Amino acid sequence: MGVKLSREEEAMIRGDRGEATKIAMDVLMRLATSFGAEEFVPVSSVQCMAHYGSLHDAGLEWLEKLSALGGKCCVPATQDPASIPFANWEQMGFDKDYAEKQRRLAQAVHELGEVLTWSCTPYAVGQVPRFGQNIAWAESSAVSYANSVFGARTNRTPAGMAICAAITGRIPRERLYLDENRVATIKITIDAGPLSDLDYNTIGIMLGKYAGTRIPAFTGIPNTATSDNLKYLGAAAASSGSVALYHIIGVTPEAFGRDPFCGHKPAEEVTWTRKDITAAEQALTTKNAGEVELVVVGCPHYSISEIMKLAKLVAGKKIRKGKEFWLYTPFETENLAKRMGLIEILEEAGVTILASNCLVISPFPRSYKTLMTESGKFASYLPSEHHIELVYGSIEDCVKAVMA
Ligand code: F3S
Repeated sequence: MGVKLSREEEAMIRGDRGEATKIAMDVLMRLATSFGAEEFVPVSSVQCMAHYGSLHDAGLEWLEKLSALGGKCCVPATQDPASIPFANWEQMGFDKDYAEKQRRLAQAVHELGEVLTWSCTPYAVGQVPRFGQNIAWAESSAVSYANSVFGARTNRTPAGMAICAAITGRIPRERLYLDENRVATIKITIDAGPLSDLDYNTIGIMLGKYAGTRIPAFTGIPNTATSDNLKYLGAAAASSGSVALYHIIGVTPEAFGRDPFCGHKPAEEVTWTRKDITAAEQALTTKNAGEVELVVVGCPHYSISEIMKLAKLVAGKKIRKGKEFWLYTPFETENLAKRMGLIEILEEAGVTILASNCLVISPFPRSYKTLMTESGKFASYLPSEHHIELVYGSIEDCVKAVMA
C-alpha cells in the first residue's frame, strides 16, 4: 500500500507552494515509502540542527540551497546548539574559517525562518509541546524529554529530514507517532534508597546500555524527581543507547494513572540496587584519568535552577591556576541569569559561559588531557569524540576539583 496524501500534500508535491517545498516533500515522500508509512501527520513544532561540526559542507550546501529556493518554515522550528559559541569564539581560540562556515549556516537557517534558540533544550526557551501533540524534533535528549516528560510524540528526526518537516509541516506517521509503539516492554525497578542528582545521569547511562531501543517503565523513581533530573536521565539513555521514550510509573504522563504496559506482561524485568548504580558510576571515569584540568557542565544545556545552584556553590571561590570551568546554556537563560546577578558571581569565580554552543559537536579549542563532568551524556561522548580522559562526579566534586 502506498502513502495516502491529503490535497494539501499533493499540492506540495506538484510544486504549488514553491520549489523548496516540493523538494522537501519529495524527500519526505521517499522516506515515508521506505519506512512503510501509510500517511503523514501534521507537526506543530520542529527542532532542527545546523551545527557545522556534524553537518559539514554537504549540510551547509543543502540548507543554503533550500534557502536560495525561497524555502520557509511553516511551523515554529527551533535550532540546536551551534559548533561555536557565537559571543566568544575568538577568545576561545576557534578557527576563523570554521567559524565562518558556522556563521553561513546561521544565516541560512535565519533566512529559512527558524527560531534562533541555538539550544538542545527548546522546552526551556519557549517551545513546550503538550500531551499527545505530534512534533518532529531532532536532538536526541530533547526527543527523549518531549516523548517521556511531556507525552508529546516524535521520533529521533535526522537533521536533513527535520528541515523538510519544518518547511512542509509534515512527517511520516510511523514508530513513536503510533499508539502501539509507545507501550513499555521492559520493567526496571530502582531499589537504591534516595537518589542524588548524579544518580539520574548514571541510571540514564545504565538504561541506554540495557534497553537499546526498547521502551522501559521504571518503578522506584520518586515523583519528587525534578525536570532537570529527568532531562539528564533521558539524555544519558539516548547517548549510551537509543532510548527515545521512557515511562516512570506514577511520574511521567503515559504512566500516571494508566498502565504503560497496556495490560501486557513485561518481556523482561530487572532490579538495580545502590551497588549497581555505584559500579556504573565508577566505570564512567576513564582508566588513565589524571588531575582534572577542566570542568564542563551543561549537557543538556544548563537551566536557570542549575545556574542558581552553581552560583551558590562557587560564591567566594576562585578557579585555581591552570584550570578552567566551562558552562553551556541557552542565550535566554544566560540573559535571565545576568539580570539575577548570577553570571557576575560565576565569572568572578572563573566560570566561562559558552552560550549557544555544545562541546560534543565542536572542535576542542584547548589541549587538556583530563576533564571532569557531572553529565552522563558528556561522559558518554567526550572521551571518544575528543580523545580525552574523563572524571565523572557530582557538581559539588566538580567545583572542588578546580576551585578553592
Ligand atoms: Fe546538548 Fe550537546 Fe549535550 S546538543 S545534549 S550539550 S551533546
